[in-house]
Amino acid sequence: MTETQFTPRVFSGIQPSGNLHLGNYLGALKRFVDMQQPDMETIYCMVDLHAITVWQDPKELAHSTRELCAGFIAAGLDPEKSILFNQSQVPEHAQLAWIFNCVARMGWMQRMTQWKDKAGKNQQNASLGLFAYPSLMAADILTYHATHVPVGDDQKQHLELTRDIAIKFNHDYGVDFFPITEPVIEGAATRVMSLRDGSKKMSKSDPSDMSRINMTDDADTIAKKIRKAKTDPEALPSELDGLDERPEARNLVNIYAALSDQTAEQVLAEVGGKQFGEFKPMLAELAVSKLAPISSEMARLMGEEAEIDQILAKGAEKARSIAAPILQQTYEIVGMVGAKQG
Ligand code: TRP
Repeated sequence: MTETQFTPRVFSGIQPSGNLHLGNYLGALKRFVDMQQPDMETIYCMVDLHAITVWQDPKELAHSTRELCAGFIAAGLDPEKSILFNQSQVPEHAQLAWIFNCVARMGWMQRMTQWKDKAGKNQQNASLGLFAYPSLMAADILTYHATHVPVGDDQKQHLELTRDIAIKFNHDYGVDFFPITEPVIEGAATRVMSLRDGSKKMSKSDPSDMSRINMTDDADTIAKKIRKAKTDPEALPSELDGLDERPEARNLVNIYAALSDQTAEQVLAEVGGKQFGEFKPMLAELAVSKLAPISSEMARLMGEEAEIDQILAKGAEKARSIAAPILQQTYEIVGMVGAKQG
């Protein structure tokens, strides 16, 4: 056994598959940016290889990738502090994924609820990539020896699989090489829900545009969507348990809290007793003041394609400098003959 010291390193991935909305911003972008701290290495990957496990129009994929990059930068990601890149440009992800395809078992993959949900009744016609998706995700994480992975609740099972792959690899080859990654799961309390139905996640695929706030919406649209958001007739409570069984009210309070960097308790201490007629304009004003600068910076960057591509190219280069030696060592452990790296 070799003793390996794993330094704290955050890694997360996000799919570039269209239309950034408030849920992506509060649940991922803002959260990732807040993790940029001096004693933490932060690596964020736009997973274009994962995106194509279901069909993507090539022009739209390229557009979504650049837009997501612009979203990260506009949300405060500093390319000097964090590594930001798109997955396809660091070939080590796909290379390590192949090794993991040979470690993971069919039965493990067949149990994945995301596979079952996405492939549905038509598994025979789903892509092989969709089935192998979690193995590539394990490679994303482990090719950086990442120790902390912030994700939404729906990705918990994939992180458990990542741990299983690391454990089996270490066991089969008699090494202590891949770390057992800690999931940093976003709590239900901070998940952004649909503005039309407090029991559903805010989603780009909801047919109603009124259900979400897009990062490209202008101030009037944001205000209108909040004004029309579904609520109930009660006033806001001053304590958290007063939001039980009131999913729409809770969602608006959570959004207010996240946008103002407060806890829901703090918000309720301020707004408890108010009717929605009074609270909604406060929320609209806050949302516009926080989101408008982001959307205008995104729009500016989207006009500077070369600047975006430059950021991504630099990010990929930095990412590779971490990933390549780890893949090289993996190959050596597995017994692949090749030139040692200089
Ligand atoms: N599967 C994740 C999602 O859909 C995205 C993802 C890909 C990811 N690779 C990752 C997340 C690695 C964390 C770490 O949200």
